[in-house]
Amino acid sequence: MTEGRIVKISGPLVIAEGMAGSKMYDVVRVGQKRLIGEIIELRGDRASIQVYEETSGLGPGEPVVSTGWPLSVELGPGLVTSIFDGIQRPLNVLKDESGDFIARGIDVPGLDHSKKWDFVPRVKVGDSVAPGDILGTVRESEIIEHRVMVPPGVAPGAVLEIKAGPATVDDVIATIDAGGAKATVTMLQRWPVRRGRPYREKLSPEAPMITGQRVVDTFFPIAKGGTACVPGPFGSGKTVIQHQLAKWSDAEIIVFIGCGERGNEMTDVLLEFPELTDPTTGKPLMERTVLVANTSNMPVAAREASIYTGITLAEYYRDMGYTVALMADSTSRWAEALREISGRLEEMPGEEGYPAYLGSRAAEFYERAGRVVCLGSDGREGALSAIGAVSPPGGDLSEPVTQATLRIVKVFWGLDDRLAARKHFPAINWLTSYSLYAERLGDYLAEQVGRDFAELRESAMSILQQEAELQEIVRLVGIDALSARQRLVLETAKSLREDFLYQSAFHEVDSYCSMKKQYRLLRVILMLHQAALRAVEAGAPLQPILDMPVKQAIARARFIPEDRLDDFGDIEARVKAEMPKVGG
Ligand SMILES: Nc1ncnc2c1ncn2[C@@H]1O[C@H](COP(=O)(O)OP(=O)(O)OP(=O)(O)O)[C@@H](O)[C@H]1O
Ligand SMILES: [Mg+2]
Repeated sequence: MTEGRIVKISGPLVIAEGMAGSKMYDVVRVGQKRLIGEIIELRGDRASIQVYEETSGLGPGEPVVSTGWPLSVELGPGLVTSIFDGIQRPLNVLKDESGDFIARGIDVPGLDHSKKWDFVPRVKVGDSVAPGDILGTVRESEIIEHRVMVPPGVAPGAVLEIKAGPATVDDVIATIDAGGAKATVTMLQRWPVRRGRPYREKLSPEAPMITGQRVVDTFFPIAKGGTACVPGPFGSGKTVIQHQLAKWSDAEIIVFIGCGERGNEMTDVLLEFPELTDPTTGKPLMERTVLVANTSNMPVAAREASIYTGITLAEYYRDMGYTVALMADSTSRWAEALREISGRLEEMPGEEGYPAYLGSRAAEFYERAGRVVCLGSDGREGALSAIGAVSPPGGDLSEPVTQATLRIVKVFWGLDDRLAARKHFPAINWLTSYSLYAERLGDYLAEQVGRDFAELRESAMSILQQEAELQEIVRLVGIDALSARQRLVLETAKSLREDFLYQSAFHEVDSYCSMKKQYRLLRVILMLHQAALRAVEAGAPLQPILDMPVKQAIARARFIPEDRLDDFGDIEARVKAEMPKVGG
């Protein structure tokens, strides 16, 4: 084991000499206090170490010991419902903002090693198994069945022994005859966070991840296994939208990474999430959630690690065959951590001081998302969707982190502070946002939701785009310059904005909107539009159309409960009945 000495300390960065024999990315213990760090640069026997704990009080000459292991997480039952810091130490007690979360230098395993889980085998002696095969299951939470897999790297072979019943994560549950040698398997896997977990094959995304958010699902959908980013200036609703996705997305497992956000915001998550109920099962949402919390008051290097910790946990559940959604709020804080450490390493700075490798690091992260065929002989599929918030200073999307992210992700939900200022929420700008999945998912949605779904979506978008142009005309020459047809476009665009795109995260019913309801709501708005156009073209006067009482019913339609969607039939009937008739 290599033991060196500290020669220099610069914030979270420590330089040590005498480190020949250690490797890049080895985890080291730094100083008398044995703080946890990771070698991020190695030149001869001189190592640069990023330290995941507060470095105050460290001094030159103190020892640095390499563990010989890369930064890894523990994978096994007990992850779900947990709250971890950036290097997977459980935060059982959330102290006040300024206090240390965990005393320094203490080894805290990610999983509870004393807890017994009731292991139910799925294989029997003599069965041949290979990495990824499911040996058995334990009930991890009320809603999650944890599938215990043969870890990657174990040679394929026949099961020699399999044990049912209570076991800790350290107990041997199976022995495999791996080509003469015996391999013992426990429920615990360790995996280096900076390396993606293996799968058999990557598939292109095919089904949408339904989020219950109308602007997202209808206009800018994300696929299961897809990637998205939510850039937005200060206070524009990044956190609220990420929370909405965590609450409502039809993913089986949620991994939420609070990365460098204010302590009180993360406290909200920690207090709120355990209270929330999963809409599909009625059980607490935490029963399918893992939180990684690394607030702005915690050491900056752990923030850099937190997104890797989070995505490794997410991959592990993907490997079991689950649909997983990961949210990172905010990746800008991660990039700032990267920049700070790069600066202290005195690397050549790139744009705005970010290191030149910012783009490749961001790509490495998002590339770990995807829909895959998992390891294992059953051919099961898993999916991991990754959604990152970005906080561009001043809302300037040309800044490096936003640009680096946009080059990789397939969905862009651009938050707009003008919309937020007008209290239009979610403040996703419908003119600038995009989803590269929209077309592919269109067929799927047409089949599931309604044949004319794609058509409705297109005409709605076209009306919203026309609105932007017409508003320009109105600004220049006034509303009287518009034709009746153009007036109707403005009227419908307003309805699309206020009755469809606007969605309150805090209203019991409106907070979530099923695909069926999104479709019915969009359909009735556009039905009114078409009928009004026809009436006007046949010579009907405009004003009575603008004053139709059914419009109030449409404005309230987003509050129609999911079990009363037939009410939309009544509204459609009223559209027909109230439409002024010409010459009749
Ligand atoms: N869908 C929504 N429905 C109702 N209100 C919303 C919605 N989205 C955002 N808001 C309002 O906007 C406020 C700010 O949102 P949020 O905290 O998500 O912004 P943020 O972009 O994360 O800010 P910061 O840059 O400070 O992290 C919320 O407290 C809430 O009042
Ligand atoms: Mg926020």
